[in-house]
Amino acid sequence: MLVAETEGVLVGYVTSDEFDPKKKSVVLETIYVHPDYRRIGIGQRLVSNYLRKWVDERGFSIHTFAISLDSFHFFSKIGFKFQYARMDFWT
Ligand SMILES: CC(C)(COP(=O)(O)OP(=O)(O)OC[C@H]1O[C@@H](n2cnc3c(N)ncnc32)[C@H](O)[C@@H]1OP(=O)(O)O)[C@@H](O)C(=O)NCCC(=O)NCCS
Repeated sequence: MLVAETEGVLVGYVTSDEFDPKKKSVVLETIYVHPDYRRIGIGQRLVSNYLRKWVDERGFSIHTFAISLDSFHFFSKIGFKFQYARMDFWT
């Protein structure tokens, strides 16, 4: 887990699964930025400046799941490429 802090306040975090050298890929599991601190680049910095940098330096790839249209826009903007859509329904 990586966290973002502003003046001693925890304002966001990103989590990934285990870094498995055999898989050579990492799943970004969750990213969250406090609503009062959104759209000022914190999410982008957490992923692009830290997690993706770490992954790239090791020659890994990174995957994630967009669970909403907003997160789809966010991931697209920061360089993730769309692969496929999936819909699940629960009753
Ligand atoms: C998605 C989330 C992490 C984005 O964090 P953020 O710090 O606000 O994102 P950034 O400021 O780094 O945004 C970078 C770019 O992504 C895009 N983007 C971010 N949020 C967006 C939104 N709600 N709608 C459309 N585009 C968005 C924009 O292009 C933005 O650049 P801009 O502000 O210059 O236009 C944040 O909105 C959040 O925590 N959402 C709730 C949890 C969630 O949906 N997580 C993702 C699935 S696990």
